[in-house]
Amino acid sequence: MTDKPVLLIPRKLAPAVLARAQATYDVILNEDDHVMTRDELVAACQNVDAVLPCHSEHFNAEVVAALPARLKIIANHSVGVDHVDLGAAKARGIVVTNTPDVLSDATAEIAMLCMLGAARRGSEGDRMVREGRWNFWSPAFMVGRQVTGRRFGVLGMGRVGQITADRARGFGMEIHYHNRSRLSPDKEKGAIFHDTVESLLAVSDVLSLHCPSTPETTGLINARTLDLLPERAILVNTARGALVDEDALVTALKSGRLFAAGLDVFRDEPGGNPALADLDNVFMLPHIGSATFETRDAMGFRALDNLDAFFAGDAPVDRLV
Ligand code: DGY
Repeated sequence: MTDKPVLLIPRKLAPAVLARAQATYDVILNEDDHVMTRDELVAACQNVDAVLPCHSEHFNAEVVAALPARLKIIANHSVGVDHVDLGAAKARGIVVTNTPDVLSDATAEIAMLCMLGAARRGSEGDRMVREGRWNFWSPAFMVGRQVTGRRFGVLGMGRVGQITADRARGFGMEIHYHNRSRLSPDKEKGAIFHDTVESLLAVSDVLSLHCPSTPETTGLINARTLDLLPERAILVNTARGALVDEDALVTALKSGRLFAAGLDVFRDEPGGNPALADLDNVFMLPHIGSATFETRDAMGFRALDNLDAFFAGDAPVDRLV
């Protein structure tokens, strides 16, 4: 018996994060790192004071209602919190935190990978060489779109959006953005503000999504909005799959109206969308935007900082409710 708070860690975290957690908490692990079913998650939460989940653990209203009174904090290992019903947690007096900032660089890197992979036909080329089908070369072969000098539209100019815009500046791109509020000039760095989504889309040769998934943003990219993009634009999504109507995306990609898409996130995860996987003009990754050694450590430490503050009686820096 110890008097350390009991902490459930439902996924396999970086070794340094786990070591630090174990020094401070009585840690309960999910040894084989499987995705817990809803019932398993509820059962595993019954005798704990805190939980440190990832976006793969869904704390919807039903799960939150089934949490024990002793569980006082959900300290997420993610910046996105669409997997947690914040209203339900607040109503039960459960504190919820996230891990902003620390994953912005890694996510911006993956956005660039998705942009270039889509623009320069990365999946198609990789598969051709890997499968031994590369038996031809000509100046007319595998021609893609150059992004240099093109317009880069950022939908959601928060922390990740701003760093992604910086990286796109490195490719000589002209930055446009839409955000709930206009940024100050030092953060804007010459980027052109659009006060509507429609106005941004109309000028985005590459559109990169960086807004949170909420009821208001679900399906924001759909048949109507895709049609507003310039001919042969490129869509990049490293935020959340729910932002995009994937059926409409498939149609736009098949017709050639959209040149390509670079996607790290999907409506259904894990797994993705077979209709998108069938298309050569989609470059896809399995939701690995923040998956670098450095960032995994930083996310875990940030979640632990929030927990430590909470159990010390202080306000966690990243408290959402
Ligand atoms: C996040 O932090 O929201 C990333 O998508 C990983 O969960």
